[in-house]
Amino acid sequence: MPQPGEPQDVLAPPAVAAIFLVVTVRPGGEDAVRGLLPDIAGLTRAVGFRSPEGGLSCVTGIGAELWDRLYGPPRPAGLHPFRVLGGAVHTAVSTPGDLLFHLRARRMDLCFELAGQLMNRLARYVDVADEVHGFRYFDERDLMGFVDGTESPKGRDGVVAVRIGDEDPAFAGGSYVVVQKYVHDLQEWDALPVEAQELAMGRTKLNDIELPDEMKPSNSHVVLNTITDADGNQRQIVRDNMPFGTVGAREFGTYFIGYTASVEVIERMLENMFIGDPPGNHDRILDFSTPVTGGLFFVPTADFLDDPSPQLAAAAAASADKPGPDAQAAEEPAARAPTSPDDGSLGIGSLKGHGT
Ligand code: HEM
Repeated sequence: MPQPGEPQDVLAPPAVAAIFLVVTVRPGGEDAVRGLLPDIAGLTRAVGFRSPEGGLSCVTGIGAELWDRLYGPPRPAGLHPFRVLGGAVHTAVSTPGDLLFHLRARRMDLCFELAGQLMNRLARYVDVADEVHGFRYFDERDLMGFVDGTESPKGRDGVVAVRIGDEDPAFAGGSYVVVQKYVHDLQEWDALPVEAQELAMGRTKLNDIELPDEMKPSNSHVVLNTITDADGNQRQIVRDNMPFGTVGAREFGTYFIGYTASVEVIERMLENMFIGDPPGNHDRILDFSTPVTGGLFFVPTADFLDDPSPQLAAAAAASADKPGPDAQAAEEPAARAPTSPDDGSLGIGSLKGHGT
């Protein structure tokens, strides 16, 4: 039995093999999902125990629309459909997805078997929106040839980055996860001199050393994804990207996955990449990488999957205690700080691209 507030395996070690499975739930399939969620931990144990050294783990995420169908309001504070971000040149698309299963192990057979067991339970109730089998490439590199994951926080920093705390007490211990499936134009990318690739990424290619600040262009991937809060603290996300591809179809990709305690942090990164910081100064790697999917999911705690009722009751009580916007306005019209900005920003003006 999971303990109250026990997280899912969000901070599992970087995978050697992974399956990213995104499904949409057909109308009427809600009970099948409710029936499966408490069984996922047992299925993972059953498959994983046959090869304990394989380190099989499964993280389950729930999309905003399915949340409403399964549980109704209130939602976890940061859960909403993935927002399309249309920059002048590149767009982060939003694609359908009700459930995300992020399966990781040191061997693909474990991921494959568990994905099969999950689908045995779900096949009649869901449609598979996307299934990607990711593999670990030489030296932890992505298919653009760069070591990927170096600055993803570990240990205590990883916990701080991903774990919801007092800001949403009913759902404390949970996380949010954003996924995007990118396909690369490797012909164009490989035609660039290595020095130009390094300026696009912000790190050296062979040794994976971060370029000195004065050398990193403001549109490099690393600069646009290094963001700080009002106190100058860097805000991080935990990533476990995986290469995938099909050589026959000349498809070469990176499956991006980012876990966070605060959706605003990851949305600010995406805004910097796609809209640009300042606007128009978009991430150079997007000129060679196109996202073909985009999804945002809430990752509840392990005990929520087992039995959601205590957290749902706590969330309902907390939202009943909160005066609605009209009551709030009537109570303290002058003192109230705006809760949602009308300036088109994310309402986290304190988060900044460090290159600005
Ligand atoms: C850093 C690759 C998409 C956030 C990096 C690095 C590489 C990389 C090679 C440098 C090494 C490292 O620290 O991991 C890619 C590729 C992507 C992709 C190939 C897709 C085509 C994204 C997206 C986000 C993101 C969509 C955020 C929404 C970050 C962050 C860092 C990073 C936060 C660390 C910056 C730092 O603190 O130095 N990425 N990335 N990446 N990436 Fe990405």
